[in-house]
Amino acid sequence: MRKKIVAGNWKMNKVDGEVKTFLSAIKQLSYPSDVDLVVVPPAVFIKEVTNVLEPKKIYTGAQNCSEYEEGAYTGELAAKMIRSVGAQYVIVGHSERRAYFGEKNEVLALKIDQALANNLTPIYCCGEKLEEREAGNHFKIVEKQIEEGLFHLPIEEITQCVIAYEPVWAIGTGVTATPEQAQEMHVFIRNLIVKKYNQQIAEKIAILYGGSCNPDNAKELFANLDIDGGLIGGASLKPEEFIAIANSFS
Ligand code: PGA
Repeated sequence: MRKKIVAGNWKMNKVDGEVKTFLSAIKQLSYPSDVDLVVVPPAVFIKEVTNVLEPKKIYTGAQNCSEYEEGAYTGELAAKMIRSVGAQYVIVGHSERRAYFGEKNEVLALKIDQALANNLTPIYCCGEKLEEREAGNHFKIVEKQIEEGLFHLPIEEITQCVIAYEPVWAIGTGVTATPEQAQEMHVFIRNLIVKKYNQQIAEKIAILYGGSCNPDNAKELFANLDIDGGLIGGASLKPEEFIAIANSFS
């Protein structure tokens, strides 16, 4: 059985007081014990979020990490710093990092290495833009992202990774991929892993869907065999919505 994961990426949202309000609300809510819940706040809040949520067995993650180990890289965050304040996960290659900060697959591969070397579980994001889907290139784009970002890993490391399929046209737009579109791409990704590694490895890796996932559509998405959970943006900012999504597995 694969892990079920619901991860909430706050992006660049919330100030100190709002974080405290979120934390006291989420502590009161319940969700199934077989779902791993991950809260991914801006890095300045990781320690506080971890301190409050660790006793509740809710994990914490970072939104990005450096491709370097440490040193003179002003403004960057090393994977080992993130781990040292209690986070277990790190998002790598979110489409906003790719689009606004020029992150390419080659650099993302190095970030994956840093994450794994420091015992962080990377959530590696992939997904096509609207024009790429319309041109029929969505499988090719995702294949390239997965190959160049992840497939340098040996078998024992690829199993430590989580993949998030996030079609760029669905992120923050209110337009969700249909369950069929999402399942089709998740199967495609799993088959890439079968071809590169093997069936057994492919069965182990959680593949999350992201892009306007909310309490109204999560159930339909998560009902698919290859959709193992979600990477949630907007709806993860509100504890009730986030937890409602975690309660959407059948
Ligand atoms: P969204 O964001 O849920 O707000 O569409 C998803 C994401 O960027 O991970």
